[in-house]
Amino acid sequence: MEEGCGKTRVVVLSGGPCGEHDVSLQSGHCANDSLDSDSFEPVFMTLTRQGCWQIGTEAPASLPLAPCDEASRATDQIEEGIRIIKSLRPDVVFLALHGRGGEDGIVQGLLDLLRIPYTGSGVRASSLAFDKRLSKLVFQSSGIPTPPHVEVRRNELSDPEECVSRVLSKIGLPCVIKVSDSGSSIGVYPISSEEELIPRLTEALARRPIALIEPHLDGVELTVGVLGNTGAEGDAAPRALPVTEIVPRASAFFDYKSKYTRGEADEITPARISPEEATVIQGLAVKAHTVLGCDGATRTDLILTKNGPQILELNTIPGLTTNSLLPQGARAAGMSFASLIERMIELALERAEAYTQLAPR
Ligand SMILES: Nc1ncnc2c1ncn2[C@@H]1O[C@H](COP(=O)(O)OP(=O)(O)O)[C@@H](O)[C@H]1O
Ligand SMILES: [Mg+2]
Repeated sequence: MEEGCGKTRVVVLSGGPCGEHDVSLQSGHCANDSLDSDSFEPVFMTLTRQGCWQIGTEAPASLPLAPCDEASRATDQIEEGIRIIKSLRPDVVFLALHGRGGEDGIVQGLLDLLRIPYTGSGVRASSLAFDKRLSKLVFQSSGIPTPPHVEVRRNELSDPEECVSRVLSKIGLPCVIKVSDSGSSIGVYPISSEEELIPRLTEALARRPIALIEPHLDGVELTVGVLGNTGAEGDAAPRALPVTEIVPRASAFFDYKSKYTRGEADEITPARISPEEATVIQGLAVKAHTVLGCDGATRTDLILTKNGPQILELNTIPGLTTNSLLPQGARAAGMSFASLIERMIELALERAEAYTQLAPR
């Protein structure tokens, strides 16, 4: 708490360097605007696409900011970011940074070094969850159903025939190619014919070093939020929100456009599934959250097939506009958007408190 005023000073950090910059800004603004000024003192901060840290959305001319031209070095920008964040003396940083460079543990590590509490998961859980290849391995070893996959690395494209025969023999068609570490359906390609495999794999692997190929699952697409800290007891223990059903209208799958264009997908909470199915799915989401060691709010994406649920992935910084899926789930549980954001801040402070109680090395 800031001395004297009794308010919690929250730096809302938004934007980020990747393809999810604009969505992150929307989440950040919604979270920032929801904070009650009687209890919170919010400061909005943007991480620009170029890697500059700025107070506000646009850089006010009076602020001594790191130069954003190409010649400026990344380390200078980070030093400047650290200087700005430290000077703000936040009680907590609210992370509204979706995607690579924000959701993957990198910023979390920086804040750990600065000993500044932040919302959501720590470094290890963030980076594990962001890497679909690794999180699927953890899911498999924990008995959490996830579709089988084949992985292809960039250098393996030098033998395209071997790649194709591996995908066809182990996965078959139709399948889905996705880069291992991205979000918002960026780098996700549904494949129905053998001829598309190499061109799409080449596209995916031009983005990121590892691509996964999964069978294309038929079924009901669902998503479920979880709130709570791994290992915590009582109110802070992880709990699932109601399940949401996603029905894309125009696209074959829940792609970038249907995720972020109003009316492109129907999102129905609670999902039209049986209470028994909902309980199983909520249990799986809590288990996915805890085996990865997540804290705060997560959202697990899955498909309910005729053979049961299959977990696609877990998001550690899910979308946080007022219309996003996690806030919809919270609303269905009787929690307003503002109370969801406030709860995420409380969980961050509880997590920080729990860490300070650990024995010193
Ligand atoms: N194996 C699959 N079968 C069918 N659809 C899939 C499969 N994997 C992904 N999808 C579709 O692609 C979307 C994005 O995939 P996902 O694994 O959740 O990655 P991200 O959301 O991080 O981009 C899903 O919401 C779903 O619509
Ligand atoms: Mg997803």
